[in-house]
Amino acid sequence: MDDRMVAPQQREGEVRAEGSLRPRLLAEYIGQSLIKENLGITIAATKSRGEALDHVLLYGPPGLGKTTLAHVIANEMGAGIKITSGPVIERAGDLAAILTNLRQGDILFIDEVHRLGRAVEEVLYPAMEDYALDIMIGKGPAAKSIRLKLPHFTIIGATTRLALITSPLRTRFGLIYRLDYYELPAMREIVQRSAAVLGIKIDEAGARELACRARGTPRIANRLLRRVRDYAEVRADGVITARVAAECLQLLEVDQLGLDTIDHKVLEAIITKFGGGPVGLETIAASIGEEADTIMDVCEPYLLQLGFIERTPRGRTATRLAYEHLGVPYPETPAEPAQSALF
Ligand code: ADE
Repeated sequence: MDDRMVAPQQREGEVRAEGSLRPRLLAEYIGQSLIKENLGITIAATKSRGEALDHVLLYGPPGLGKTTLAHVIANEMGAGIKITSGPVIERAGDLAAILTNLRQGDILFIDEVHRLGRAVEEVLYPAMEDYALDIMIGKGPAAKSIRLKLPHFTIIGATTRLALITSPLRTRFGLIYRLDYYELPAMREIVQRSAAVLGIKIDEAGARELACRARGTPRIANRLLRRVRDYAEVRADGVITARVAAECLQLLEVDQLGLDTIDHKVLEAIITKFGGGPVGLETIAASIGEEADTIMDVCEPYLLQLGFIERTPRGRTATRLAYEHLGVPYPETPAEPAQSALF
């Protein structure tokens, strides 16, 4: 397998830079303490038995470190890692080729694992459960199936959408971890660590300002850190202070809570176009010209976490906190449901 199997998720330069910022071991990994503790125990036990690690499913919003954690697991296990993604494996034969090239203990990281096709998934079931590959030879009545033995390997699947993983696939993962948005102290530490790795000068208050506005997401913190460094070099004396960070982030249209223009458009649409909701996700997406998937994967989880929107069976509603954040007066008697106007 080669680098072409890496999903084109980010621009190449950013992938390279992100790589150099990645922690290599659990001890260097900041935040997600419960996952680290549980993983540490399982890894130690598995290594002492000389086995391959059980299959791992990592889920949560984008940018929280699922790929990073997969590399950390491989390093801790002393195992090789191959990287691919659900949409890249188009046919069952593609997966068979990957699996037959794995060695004992290797890790196969499948990003966007919810996007595997049905036929591919069916090859994966016996591979995960019995380390076996069932191959059909021939067609029609003369066709027969032979079973190839595979080395004991580990699948690490990653997804932003647990609900889209079929139940037979989900139940074949022995370790399932949900990555959560990082707390402020962890974000501050990540910003300081990344600044040290990249040789960027940043003071305590500057790190705090950036950490507050990176929506609990290390990938965003690392991207903003580079932009603020540019700003500090051009418009200040090269040191990132709270003032420098705040000025730059204002220019980038990232607000005090880390909301960007799309988040603002979503909230404004719910509040001003749809009377505060409830309104369906597709309707919101169409009204602001964004993909529904982007809103669902990127904006919504953070807005829900902030308590700015609620999900109801009839759609999304904006909360009082969202009105306050946008500086729009909250309607004390909530808007009547549209159909009651008929009666
Ligand atoms: N860089 C990106 N994510 C990180 C994390 N969780 N810990 C340390 N450095 C990181």
